[in-house]
Amino acid sequence: MNQPADFLLTGAGELVTLDPRLGEGALGVIRGGAVAALSGKIVWIGRTAEARKAVWLLKAGRELDARGRVVLPGFVDSHTHLVFAGSREKEFASRIAGASYQEIAAAGGGILSTVEATRDATVDELVALARRRLDLALQHGTTTLEAKSGYGLTTADEVKMLEAICLLREAHPVDVHATFCGAHEVPPEFRGNTEGYVDLVVNEMLPEVTQKKLAEYCDVFCEEGVFSVTHARRILLAARERGLRAKLHADEFVATGGAELAAEVGALSADHLLTARVDGIRAMKEAGVTATLLPGTAFFLGLPYAPARAFLETGVRVALATDFNPGSSYTPNMQLIITLACTQMRMTVEEAIQAATLGGAHAMGLEAQLGSLARGKACDLNVVDIPNYYHLPYLYGVNHVQTVVKAGQVVWPGE
Ligand code: NIG
Ligand code: FE
Repeated sequence: MNQPADFLLTGAGELVTLDPRLGEGALGVIRGGAVAALSGKIVWIGRTAEARKAVWLLKAGRELDARGRVVLPGFVDSHTHLVFAGSREKEFASRIAGASYQEIAAAGGGILSTVEATRDATVDELVALARRRLDLALQHGTTTLEAKSGYGLTTADEVKMLEAICLLREAHPVDVHATFCGAHEVPPEFRGNTEGYVDLVVNEMLPEVTQKKLAEYCDVFCEEGVFSVTHARRILLAARERGLRAKLHADEFVATGGAELAAEVGALSADHLLTARVDGIRAMKEAGVTATLLPGTAFFLGLPYAPARAFLETGVRVALATDFNPGSSYTPNMQLIITLACTQMRMTVEEAIQAATLGGAHAMGLEAQLGSLARGKACDLNVVDIPNYYHLPYLYGVNHVQTVVKAGQVVWPGE
């Protein structure tokens, strides 16, 4: 059988498919692997020695020789706050001097200082700022990324942020998916009237955002002193009625029952979970909620890490993401997140690679389309300049990604 293709990668020292049926071990590794795609989708996977028999490369097609390097799926960063204006380096310095994230927020810094700068920015300014960050994410191997609103906190400014996210999706090779996170903080105009702000989110923002089709998911910062479980439940159920899938900032600083709520509302993912309780973890397992762990945040804020082993041993699916944002985790680098997951949360190298690819796809409900290398899925992959996949977290703090392929096209480095 000779299959036409417009992209053919050969000579992978290890082709890490993430599909154990296709290769060795939990990650389904094919030594001397090859992969072919047509119109952005994978049409064949196998050994380089068999590629010529199996695949016929179209005239305009592109062939890439991996020269013995490791090839793995593009990273899926399922939790970011990519779009914002301003920066918070002074807050970073005060944290080093001893102030906590919550103390800074209570003094009007934190999220609210980014809100001020974001309200002042135009859509075009937001797009220009975020595009550079998206370039960095891509250079470090991210091919799909979730981006949240939540620094506008008025209907017009939340819509502006989501419009910026939608424009980025059109203008950049990274697949960007939008989350409405109007309940990220209570804005100053509603200080002392959280209930009134939740009314605005439910009665005005959600209808407008969904009518304009600006988001796929809805997220709430469910945290002591921000939005309670009751607030979050109301918002997520209203969002679900309007067709948005639920995500949740849950049990980040204080265990408020966020994990349990995520299970109750059938959320795609509960995220952070540094302080999640055993009952919440069990409830997530029962409900099939993905645990999105963000070790960059614990690292950057100097907090204890989420109990990754408890999630894994309970049978909860785990995703890893950057939480890229100007306050609590300012990195777009999924490779660093994998290292932190291994060294600080004791995830195995295999678990961490899986969580950063297929796990992220599950957290976004995209597991049928991407996250592993399999026939019919998107041909999104990284050629990584390491001798075997253990080196990905092992030599850390550097960028191992040499070439990024998105939908069967080489998108970095540019030609
Ligand atoms: O995921 N926790 C709430 N939101 C972000 C922080 C956003 C910010 O500080 O700007 C987070 O850590
Ligand atoms: Fe976050």
